[in-house]
Amino acid sequence: MKQAFFSFILSLFLLSWSQVRAAKEVFAHVIVGNVNAFAVADWEGDIDLAKASLIDGFVLNIAAKDTNNGPSLDAAFQAANNKQFKLFFSFDYLAEGPWPKEQVIQLLQKFGNDTAYFKQGTQPFASTFEGPANSADWTDIKAQTGAFFVPDWSSISAADAVATGVVDGLFSFNAWPDGPTNISTAPDQTFRDALGTGKVYIMPVAPWFFTNLPGFNKNWLWRGDELWDDRWQQVLDFKPDFVEILTWNDYGESHYIGPLNDKEFGLFASANAPFNYADKMAHDGWRKFLPFYIDAFKSGTQPQVTEESAVAYYRPNPALACQNGGTTGNNKDFGQTELPPDQLVEDKVFYSALLNSPAEVSVSIGGNVQNGTFSKTPAGGGQAGVYQGSVGFKNSTGEVVVTVTRGGQTVAEVKGGPGISTQCASGIENWNAFCGSS
Ligand SMILES: *[C@@H]1O[C@H](CO)[C@@H](O)[C@H](O)[C@H]1NC(C)=O
Ligand SMILES: *[C@@H]1O[C@H](CO)[C@@H](O)[C@H](O)[C@H]1NC(C)=O
Ligand SMILES: *[C@@H]1O[C@H](CO)[C@@H](O)[C@H](O)[C@H]1NC(C)=O
Ligand SMILES: *[C@@H]1O[C@H](CO)[C@@H](O)[C@H](O)[C@H]1NC(C)=O
Repeated sequence: MKQAFFSFILSLFLLSWSQVRAAKEVFAHVIVGNVNAFAVADWEGDIDLAKASLIDGFVLNIAAKDTNNGPSLDAAFQAANNKQFKLFFSFDYLAEGPWPKEQVIQLLQKFGNDTAYFKQGTQPFASTFEGPANSADWTDIKAQTGAFFVPDWSSISAADAVATGVVDGLFSFNAWPDGPTNISTAPDQTFRDALGTGKVYIMPVAPWFFTNLPGFNKNWLWRGDELWDDRWQQVLDFKPDFVEILTWNDYGESHYIGPLNDKEFGLFASANAPFNYADKMAHDGWRKFLPFYIDAFKSGTQPQVTEESAVAYYRPNPALACQNGGTTGNNKDFGQTELPPDQLVEDKVFYSALLNSPAEVSVSIGGNVQNGTFSKTPAGGGQAGVYQGSVGFKNSTGEVVVTVTRGGQTVAEVKGGPGISTQCASGIENWNAFCGSS
């Protein structure tokens, strides 16, 4: 009896130790189907950028039946080993239909022991994009691979997902607001409530959403104005076990934070997009504050601001300049009220600055200069941290320059993106955004 008690206490200790030890990683979701043309060096280049942002690893979204998975995964694991980076699988049950159970087992047996494969304690992490109808498969998959199973089954409730009895945690794909409301952590709380204390929660963070891919029957946007910095603050307040950034390279849904890469734009043709809406719409600026946010998330305290810097993002076309391309704001398939897209997005230049103390900001659009304000100041009330604000386009077109100054001295400047224009590519609105940084 006494012995059983002690071994119970010991296993509790080991369990909590392994969870504490492994928790707080930040991952970015990678669409492997977009990187068929990647050699090891391409993976290494992206891994270098991710590591510079303090991202710990990539979650590899793989579609069943994709014959390029084999070579892509070999290249990815070689690069991750070379760079001491982590990877784990997200089995996509929607893109090409459900994964056959045996193939999931084979892939986890082949890669699960790899040094670069991310593990919870000794268990290889495994996630999904959807697939709750196949939940029963995971009893055998877990028995044969020892997987630590954290699916995204956002199409069912967190409580129903937990009730399947096979999950060790859950990932939510709910990273965008039901506009015009602001993003909130109420959906995240439903996961926390359902999971209790023994299971892990991966919280999603995304910068933007716009897709127009007729070949996949997708054409909607979700509100991204002010989303990125607000959501990171929610991460710091909510303190999930892990964070997953949506995404690194999903150009088709405009929520990439990785670099633009011609090798990855094949889907615009294969899914009959009316044009390549990622072209010139770099999102690199959304990585600028990641070292600050991720350090704060992991340490639980606000790090020093070592470099004052600024980020700015904006759509390249005023919302009513051109035809809307049939895009809806929101999507009724998610139980949302659809609105004309121009009612959900704001014709504004959004900017944020990571500062040690207050500063001034001005925005030039084609030489028309407006003095801006920072309507949001650092959470917690201190002087150091992220300041946010925006100014309207006010019908100005042309090059955008955002300048942060203090006492007449320039602190940070963002420029170099495409100018705002009433001439739209292919004659329809590009609802994607450019995001640059100083
Ligand atoms: C992975 O490692 C575990 C423990 O070291 C071992 O039991 C298992 O057989 C290995 N799996 C493969 C596929 O090598
Ligand atoms: C969103 O938040 C801003 C403040 O950041 C507030 O002014 C606005 O009213 C909110 N919008 C909605 C729809 O709640
Ligand atoms: C903007 O601010 C600068 C100083 O920060 C001031 O000289 C200028 O007059 C202001 N412009 C407007 C339009 O308020
Ligand atoms: C922009 O132009 C439109 C059409 O000419 C006009 O109705 C509107 O008032 C202008 N908006 C601003 C902020 O100047």
